[in-house]
Amino acid sequence: MYIKVTLYVLAIWLTANINAISVTVYYEALCFDSVNFITRQLYPNYPLFKDHVTIDFVPYGKAIHNFNTTTGKYTFKCQHGKEECMGNKFQACGLAQIDKKDVQMEFVTCVMSTSNPSNVYFIEQCANKYKMDFKKIVTCASSKEGDELLASNGEKTWNLEPNLSYVPTIVYNNSTEINSIETRNSLVDFKNVVCGKLATRKPVLCDKTSFFEKIKQFFT
Ligand SMILES: *[C@@H]1O[C@H](CO)[C@@H](O)[C@H](O)[C@H]1NC(C)=O
Ligand SMILES: *[C@@H]1O[C@H](CO)[C@@H](O)[C@H](O)[C@H]1NC(C)=O
Ligand SMILES: *[C@@H]1O[C@H](CO)[C@@H](O)[C@H](O)[C@H]1NC(C)=O
Ligand SMILES: *[C@@H]1O[C@H](CO)[C@@H](O)[C@H](O)[C@H]1NC(C)=O
Repeated sequence: MYIKVTLYVLAIWLTANINAISVTVYYEALCFDSVNFITRQLYPNYPLFKDHVTIDFVPYGKAIHNFNTTTGKYTFKCQHGKEECMGNKFQACGLAQIDKKDVQMEFVTCVMSTSNPSNVYFIEQCANKYKMDFKKIVTCASSKEGDELLASNGEKTWNLEPNLSYVPTIVYNNSTEINSIETRNSLVDFKNVVCGKLATRKPVLCDKTSFFEKIKQFFT
């Protein structure tokens, strides 16, 4: 009995202390590799990692933005044209409306899984699916608010060193340095990269027969 309780407390303690890795996904709406990463690597592995990893989405990609002091407005140029800028802005506005990380993941995956992640029709469907306020997204995307959200994503993206050269780029622990090998590995096998980072503290996620997993099985 004492052993059980002790192990249970230990299990809770371990779980509480492992939520340590941040993953930031720099992506853009009309990019096949972004779609692939989000729908085939990130989303399928998310249930496994969600208690241990915090995901942040930064839709912007290989774009530029400028603030025109005469007009008081931002201008944007995106890799795949105006439509992509709209898509990124709509997603930024949607993300800003959601405070639950799980729902952010669902929303972005929903949009990126459609045949056109910049298309307002699909964004509306995904927003409705997750009980978001689509009207608010439209208002945001057609106003200063959306411009500022996208420009802020642009600042984050342009803060990276070296400059973004591949989309999507995956960055761990809020680093401002791009590790292109790590990005490449993440695109091919996200689970393996995250497991490598968690290895010393959390073998359970990555190894079904680990000590931790045995403790869990003991209680279920
Ligand atoms: C990430 O940051 C956390 C908290 O600062 C730290 O415990 C962990 O070792 C870092 N992981 C990597 C891979 O840098
Ligand atoms: C700012 O906007 C004004 C009015 O549209 C335009 O004439 C000017 O060229 C713009 N400036 C820059 C730096 O883009
Ligand atoms: C990154 O891009 C900016 C803007 O185009 C440029 O001024 C800067 O020199 C670039 N930095 C590197 C390291 O290439
Ligand atoms: C990364 O930044 C976010 C937001 O500022 C913060 O909540 C989180 O703890 C940071 N993660 C790491 C590992 O430093």
